[in-house]
Amino acid sequence: MRVRTFATPHHAARALAREIAKALNANPRLVLGLPTGRTPILLYRELVRLNQTGTIDFSGATTFNLDEFAGVPAGDPRSYHAFMRRHLFDHVNLQRRRINFLNGAARNAEAECARYEAAIRRSGGIDLQILGLGANGHIGFNEPADALIAATHRARLRSATRRANASLFGNHVRAVPHEALSMGVATILRARRIILLATGSTKARCVERMLEGRISPRVPASFLQLHRNVDVWLDQAAALRLTG
Ligand code: GLP
Repeated sequence: MRVRTFATPHHAARALAREIAKALNANPRLVLGLPTGRTPILLYRELVRLNQTGTIDFSGATTFNLDEFAGVPAGDPRSYHAFMRRHLFDHVNLQRRRINFLNGAARNAEAECARYEAAIRRSGGIDLQILGLGANGHIGFNEPADALIAATHRARLRSATRRANASLFGNHVRAVPHEALSMGVATILRARRIILLATGSTKARCVERMLEGRISPRVPASFLQLHRNVDVWLDQAAALRLTG
């Protein structure tokens, strides 16, 4: 995995937005995988700015988001879908029909996950997957466990993850769903290129385990070591524990 360290989260976000612009210029029909969380907010702000100044054109792009809370419909302001509308979709020229999201409120979660896998396949597969990193080593909602699930699936959230997501639910941890739908680790690893963005000192330990530890389902992000085309972009705080 190639590691790049930036002075601040702002520098990392700006560089990543430029990288996405470059990928879109090279392939206007790019299929982009997108994360939620606090980390990509600066990136989305920068993408909006580049779109509004005409530097980046999303009109031919397709997007797939990684995950969604179970039981939370897209129209609910607490959903990841609403988060993406607030931070990106409502402000850029992405075509609505090319925005793909797991429907957390689907009655049949299994069928919904199968639909999503098929939609990714039909799009030709994800060209560039942007990832965040959970402080406990999760990617998407693939939580540390004895074993991981390869395909898109219904996932049980750990308490630490529910706490980390409480801000979307008015800071009421108890209101955060216990389950979510998430791309699986194999779904993520099928992307042609992956860039993981992690910033802040709370991620430093996990970044170290992801890059320098063994591949283990206890650190789902460590499976990225198996992929040939992964960039890990960090700020100085997140890179603090790296030896190299
Ligand atoms: C959430 C999301 C992940 C995200 C992670 C990190 O639970 N499901 O896709 O990468 O947590 O969030 P943050 O960037 O807020 O630290």
